[in-house]
Amino acid sequence: MAKTTKILSGEDYLDQFDSKAYAGAFFSEIEIEGFSFTEFRLKTLHKIYSKGNIKGKLLLEIGSGPCIHTVIPAASWFDEIIMTDFSPSNRDMQEKWLKKDPGAHNWDKFFKYYSKLDGNEDNWQQLEAVLRPKIKRVLTCDVFKQNPLDPIQLDPVDVICTSACLESACPDKDAYHNAMKNVVSLLKPGGKLILIGILNCPHYVVGSEIFQCLSISRDEVINTVKANGLDVIELFDDDTPVEEGTTIFNGTVIILAEKKITHVGVQSL
Ligand SMILES: C[S@@+](CC[C@H](N)C(=O)[O-])C[C@H]1O[C@@H](n2cnc3c(N)ncnc32)[C@H](O)[C@@H]1O
Repeated sequence: MAKTTKILSGEDYLDQFDSKAYAGAFFSEIEIEGFSFTEFRLKTLHKIYSKGNIKGKLLLEIGSGPCIHTVIPAASWFDEIIMTDFSPSNRDMQEKWLKKDPGAHNWDKFFKYYSKLDGNEDNWQQLEAVLRPKIKRVLTCDVFKQNPLDPIQLDPVDVICTSACLESACPDKDAYHNAMKNVVSLLKPGGKLILIGILNCPHYVVGSEIFQCLSISRDEVINTVKANGLDVIELFDDDTPVEEGTTIFNGTVIILAEKKITHVGVQSL
């Protein structure tokens, strides 16, 4: 249970986000009765990547938190993967996993799950061996900056994945639109965005703290993607409501979108 009713946000991610508690609460188990949140993500990401046409030189994960589950099925399709987050504790958890530090979160179940979807469950460690060397860097990121990776300048990126980050970072819908604009600016024309959006979630619990979340609908997420110069290629919906203690939301949308090649500006919402 959260120890206070103070709702944290913004700069609080710098020193109040308990990455171990977050990974433990949301990413210890996959198949939980009545809680399709994790399975839906894994099955959808597997479906997206296994077709073999979402690939390239670089995959950039924005606001990855302490998590690697979103990049596991992508590993064999990219030369390089970069993980990013605003919170030092999340970047530290990423580094721990890369160094096989004993304090790292254990993602074995996730490698096994994806390997089973590949029909290769017995060799699940192969997936881990492919992924680890592909993650070349863990960078600081702030979606409110025009260049979220400032001062690092990347060449335009082939594919960006961002999961539950924009709604967690943004206080209102204008900020959400602008944060998405900043993220999309890193993508090359024709590049793909994979966006995992948590719907109508006012706040969520991490360890003993409550973090604010922007309550946003499926249509608002889709319209913001389109208003930022992307075409929606595929949409995946999970409308199962989730009530886990004080974390409440009513579904997830996963959007695969492509940045328009002729994009010259952005419309306002
Ligand atoms: C709910 S967690 C999502 C983590 C992970 N991507 C997932 O799918 O579970 C929200 C993430 O957004 C990050 N975040 C918060 N403010 C941010 C900002 N201004 N720029 C980039 N990331 C931010 C947090 O540090 C946290 O890792």
